[in-house]
Amino acid sequence: MDPVANPFAPGAGTPPPELAGREELLDTVRVALARIRLGRPSKSILMVGLRGVGKTVLLDRMRDNAEAAGMHTLRVEAPENRSLPAILAPQLRQTLLRLSRNAKAKDLAQRALRALAGFAKSLKVKFADIEVGFDFEPEPGLADNGDLEHDLQALFEAAGAAAQQADSALAIFVDELQYVEEEQLAALITALHRTAQRQLPVVLVGAGLPQLRGRMGRAKSYAERLFDFPEIGPLSPAASRQALVVPARAQQVEFTDDALDRIQKETQGYPYFVQEWGKHTWDVAKTSPITLDDVTTASISAVAALDESFFRVRFDRLTPTERRYLRAMADIGPGPHRSGDIAEQLNRAVTSLGPTRSSLIGKGMLWSPNHGDTAFTVPLFDEFMHRIMPGEDWRE
Ligand SMILES: Nc1ncnc2c1ncn2[C@@H]1O[C@H](COP(=O)(O)OP(=O)(O)OP(=O)(O)O)[C@@H](O)[C@H]1O
Ligand SMILES: [Mg+2]
Repeated sequence: MDPVANPFAPGAGTPPPELAGREELLDTVRVALARIRLGRPSKSILMVGLRGVGKTVLLDRMRDNAEAAGMHTLRVEAPENRSLPAILAPQLRQTLLRLSRNAKAKDLAQRALRALAGFAKSLKVKFADIEVGFDFEPEPGLADNGDLEHDLQALFEAAGAAAQQADSALAIFVDELQYVEEEQLAALITALHRTAQRQLPVVLVGAGLPQLRGRMGRAKSYAERLFDFPEIGPLSPAASRQALVVPARAQQVEFTDDALDRIQKETQGYPYFVQEWGKHTWDVAKTSPITLDDVTTASISAVAALDESFFRVRFDRLTPTERRYLRAMADIGPGPHRSGDIAEQLNRAVTSLGPTRSSLIGKGMLWSPNHGDTAFTVPLFDEFMHRIMPGEDWRE
């Protein structure tokens, strides 16, 4: 098939041609945001899931929907090694400047911009990476204590009051939330707790790896009551089918049933892989329908493409010790695995491997579904580890 017309879109954060199987969740979030806008109680939402399940594209879709419904939104991604106030401040400023163009909300939005100025100035000491333009002078005593927990709360209250005055809501979208330090997560939770108590329309929609849930609970024990943690998983067989069939059909291309079954088997319904197989089968097939033979041929290039991008970017960031740890895990299977079993593979004591395991969790490669259990955050990573470190040499 003409590669120019290929609709499939594997890539981190690349919107799919058909966002399949997430209708219910999108609706839940729509309702939650609409309720919060009206000052009705509703929990903030933190989506958790493995790499490549579609958290980022969901977050973007939810944001588009919120904007279309007239809410004021901001969207940030928490990178490793940057502070939450530093990534929030510039985006919040943009949102508040937009709010200040609303005649009703102008005064309160300007007050919130003063709060932001005080916030940034006083926290600069602790978080040197804060860089934000000042539109107004700070107001003494407003969000300028120099204590994140207190100041973020005051800032959110001021911003929420402005959004309320505009009959809108402030919806904050944060991706990769698991990278935020626990102390900063705690401040975020407190600030959202406060706005909820005051019935101010401020809501967080976040996404992160599965470790996020535990991190939130450790940061503040009451986090579980303030947030819903919908789990984003692989697509059901029906939804993967839809993800493939709908975009193809839009161009008069069909898949045979056994081709679709094979793709389901190869991808296990993981959205990133579904896109990759869609792309490669399309390019391989000469005519419609796309057949099982096409899938068999395409699987080779699809796996190679994943190895070069999706898996590779993660592998490249690992130290030799971390690689061996993951390779030992892969030797036992897809997981989750007991720490003792991994240690045994490596001929080491469990305690001596603690730091390696911790740094792999910190890098977002592993997570712990239960105490003492360790699992990959990247689907099918065990198979990749066998391909990239074949044989037994790694044991040395
Ligand atoms: N519901 C869906 N239906 C079809 N394709 C999807 C769906 N969700 C995501 N995809 C595709 O899957 C790929 C990965 O999506 P995305 O980057 O949002 O995942 P992610 O969970 O944010 O991954 P990571 O944890 O690596 O950031 C993209 O190519 C996207 O187009
Ligand atoms: Mg993502």
